[in-house]
Amino acid sequence: MSTKTMKRILVTGATGQIGSELTIELRKRYGGDNVVAAGHKRKPSEKLFSSGPFEYVNVTQKDEIEKVVKKYDIDTIYHLAAVLSAVGEQNHQLAWNVNMGGLYNALEIAREHELVRVFWPSSIAVFGPETPRVNTPQDTVLIPTTMYGVTKVAGELLCNYYFLRFGLDVRSVRYPGIISSETPPGGGTTDYAVEIFYEAIKNKRYTCFVREDTVLPMMYMPDCIKADIDLMEAGPSRIKCRTSYNVTGMSFSAGELAAEIKKYIPEFECEYKPDFRQKIADSWPLSIDDSVAREEWGWKPTYDLAAMTKDMIEKLSKRFAKGKP
Ligand code: SER
Repeated sequence: MSTKTMKRILVTGATGQIGSELTIELRKRYGGDNVVAAGHKRKPSEKLFSSGPFEYVNVTQKDEIEKVVKKYDIDTIYHLAAVLSAVGEQNHQLAWNVNMGGLYNALEIAREHELVRVFWPSSIAVFGPETPRVNTPQDTVLIPTTMYGVTKVAGELLCNYYFLRFGLDVRSVRYPGIISSETPPGGGTTDYAVEIFYEAIKNKRYTCFVREDTVLPMMYMPDCIKADIDLMEAGPSRIKCRTSYNVTGMSFSAGELAAEIKKYIPEFECEYKPDFRQKIADSWPLSIDDSVAREEWGWKPTYDLAAMTKDMIEKLSKRFAKGKP
């Protein structure tokens, strides 16, 4: 396995919820010109566009990724491009093609061009109804019931295979729901935990698409970025798991989140009208045991429900006060 360091980074899915913030952080650390942002359909924000190179890439087309890797002499890929769980249930073919095809292309390019390192996010969606739902362990039953989950389990196995067979230094974490204020998520089951903030501040009302007692593991964006960077910067000998590490920040019910928001916006009213996404939420864990990540590469989250809610409300209120959407 290569001991070279990461110098020229490509982020796929850079216009997405995680990519739009992770790319900016990577540019701060490694220099704007050294971090290439790749998006597909969504237009990049001004910040993303002006802080370093931007390229349009369809990850299902290997040559499109390869062209960018060659053009910028890329040595590290953060492969974030994916179709999330709810959209994946509405279009399972698209989820399979983008999630599996995209990852396979990224890994093959990394192998062929002998890249230094690859990061790929897995998800709590790898778990399913037979998995223990409380303090879900690192090594447990992985029989998901969504296409998104199927692609994440298969993706974990593929990453592990490229490590074992070709010595590719590929690293991964299983993200819980990610809460953030910069770019809204698109098409996930945990999206309610972000939408609720936008609606509470703008309209003082929210109709939540899962039941009030639905509990899921979540993480605030600064911790999400910290997990990516800590994992990618850890010495290779510390990374013993090459499928994907459990990580989490907090767990709460939709009702507990609404109550926390009410502390800042007393008029806020939340009603609950579960739709097809309830079934997906019910197949996922309530809480995650991330002790292996803590022991092996020092993972430690910072934000709990109270700290995350305070920060989200402050950030979004400021943005809306300036008239930004
Ligand atoms: N946030 C994702 C989703 O809801 C889970 O990885 O699809």
